Amino acid sequence: RCRCPAHSNTFHQDYSIFTLYYILYYIYMCVCVCVCQMASSNIRYGEGVSREIGMDLQNLGARNVCLMTDKNLSVLPPVKAVLESLSQNGVNYKVYDDVRVEPTDSSFKDAIAFSKNNSFDVFVAVGGGSVIDTCKAANLYACHPDADFLDFVNAPIGKGKPVTGALKPLIAVPTTAGTGSETTGVAIFDFEPLKAKTGIASRALRPTLGIVDPLHTLSMPERVAANSGFDVLCHALESYTALPYNQRSPCPPNPINRPAYQGSNPISDVWSRHALNVVAKFMKRAVRDPEDLEARSSMHLASVFAGIGFGNAGVHLCHGMSYPIAGNVKTHSAKGYSVDHALVPHGLSVVLTSPAVFNFTAPMCPERHLEAAEILGADVRRVKREDAGGVLADTLRQFLLELQVEDGLGALGYSKDDIPALVRGTIPQERVTKLSPREHTEEDLSELFAASMKLY
Ligand SMILES: NC(=O)c1ccc[n+]([C@@H]2O[C@H](COP(=O)([O-])OP(=O)(O)OC[C@H]3O[C@@H](n4cnc5c(N)ncnc54)[C@H](O)[C@@H]3O)[C@@H](O)[C@H]2O)c1
Ligand SMILES: *[C@@H]1O[C@H](CO)[C@@H](O)[C@H](O)[C@H]1NC(C)=O
Ligand SMILES: *[C@@H]1O[C@H](CO)[C@@H](O)[C@H](O)[C@H]1NC(C)=O
Ligand SMILES: *[C@@H]1O[C@H](CO)[C@@H](O)[C@H](O)[C@H]1NC(C)=O
Ligand SMILES: [Fe+2]
Repeated sequence: RCRCPAHSNTFHQDYSIFTLYYILYYIYMCVCVCVCQMASSNIRYGEGVSREIGMDLQNLGARNVCLMTDKNLSVLPPVKAVLESLSQNGVNYKVYDDVRVEPTDSSFKDAIAFSKNNSFDVFVAVGGGSVIDTCKAANLYACHPDADFLDFVNAPIGKGKPVTGALKPLIAVPTTAGTGSETTGVAIFDFEPLKAKTGIASRALRPTLGIVDPLHTLSMPERVAANSGFDVLCHALESYTALPYNQRSPCPPNPINRPAYQGSNPISDVWSRHALNVVAKFMKRAVRDPEDLEARSSMHLASVFAGIGFGNAGVHLCHGMSYPIAGNVKTHSAKGYSVDHALVPHGLSVVLTSPAVFNFTAPMCPERHLEAAEILGADVRRVKREDAGGVLADTLRQFLLELQVEDGLGALGYSKDDIPALVRGTIPQERVTKLSPREHTEEDLSELFAASMKLY
């Protein structure tokens, strides 16, 4: 861990020659490692802006475009608007609308086969995180035809090889608010052999352009707005409370080896905190009234802001624990999601553990937890630092209750007997869980799952 004089005061008053060497060594280390970097896609925002996409494709000189979406969206206004722009500009394209909602390794492979079979020169993803992530993977493997599927998948599940070749341009048109996938270099899927989600993370996957057209969010069903909004909430909260960037290890001196998830840092804080403010102000309105364009537009932007925040800082326990919650689902069928398989929507799988998680992490940075509770509407004037976790947990529970969220993991069909499997599925998620500000044992994870069985 980087412990430099600028970030800790563990130095003694007796300045011997050894202390001097010690300080110089750590100053040297800090020059190498105490850095943070902001990376993001280009983002274009505005009502009706997706009508420009045909011109963008022309400007790129696209000859054979792959348009990806899911079955449900393929007949809805967002896809219609994009297809109209393509036709008006004479763009040649093929549609792939078999994206699975909450994709799996096999659904990724199907989309990859489609892309390998056609030599596409630009990819366009119109949909939520499921579509954008599938499109990123299709682009990646079509450009690396000899790679094995697991080559680029995060270690320890895959080989975690760095992406060295160039990918084709990808334009993402998000229709949920949302995963922020239009800003990140991450593609998440459910790895069925393990019953847990994992992903591919590389800056190379980042879309070239995100076209954020708030009109597209108007057709979101109520639960899609709620669940994708909870994803925004957790991206903001987790990135804001993640282990600080100067305490993360290892700290590779060569920039190419630094992970995208760097820990909380002064740049990502701006985006995460602002996203949380927008969620606090607009999320309830956006869920309750599908015609509230101001609220839905604001949430659409908040998902971009939170995406930039977590795309650089990372997420931690809510996301790490959500992957087995989504992967072990047996029967839960999500209200408002017109799909033919059991499913725990991503945002729901993430938010159900949030009261327990932030109660657990608060002792490491109580000020940030209190600030988050205050932004979400709690009166924190007389709250002691040691009560920060309890206050944020109560505030979150109240927020979930008001948005009619299922009463904990129990309501999704999980019981105490499932906890060992849920813990086993969390262990390999160290890419994110190591960003938790508080170190944790398997015992701690069991307790967090147990505390999330019932919320109200
Ligand atoms: N890449 C990342 O950075 C990242 C971050 C968080 C989550 N994710 C992943 O994203 C996926 C979840 O994505 P999501 O929450 O955006 O939802 P989604 O893409 O799974 O879509 C959910 C449902 O809503 C429908 N839908 C989407 N937009 C609509 C609209 N405008 N009108 C009507 N129906 C609409 C879809 O057809 C689908 O049935 C998960 O697999 C999750 O793991 C990725
Ligand atoms: C898409 O989903 C919405 C609600 O989730 C539903 O009302 C609509 O009928 C679905 N459309 C298709 C084509 O499945
Ligand atoms: C690939 O193309 C061939 C011939 O055009 C077709 O028969 C086959 O079904 C295609 N496969 C996929 C996965 O699209
Ligand atoms: C919060 O954590 C404390 C211990 O740190 C525990 O006693 C309490 O039950 C927890 N509360 C919730 C709601 O998880
Ligand atoms: Fe997420």
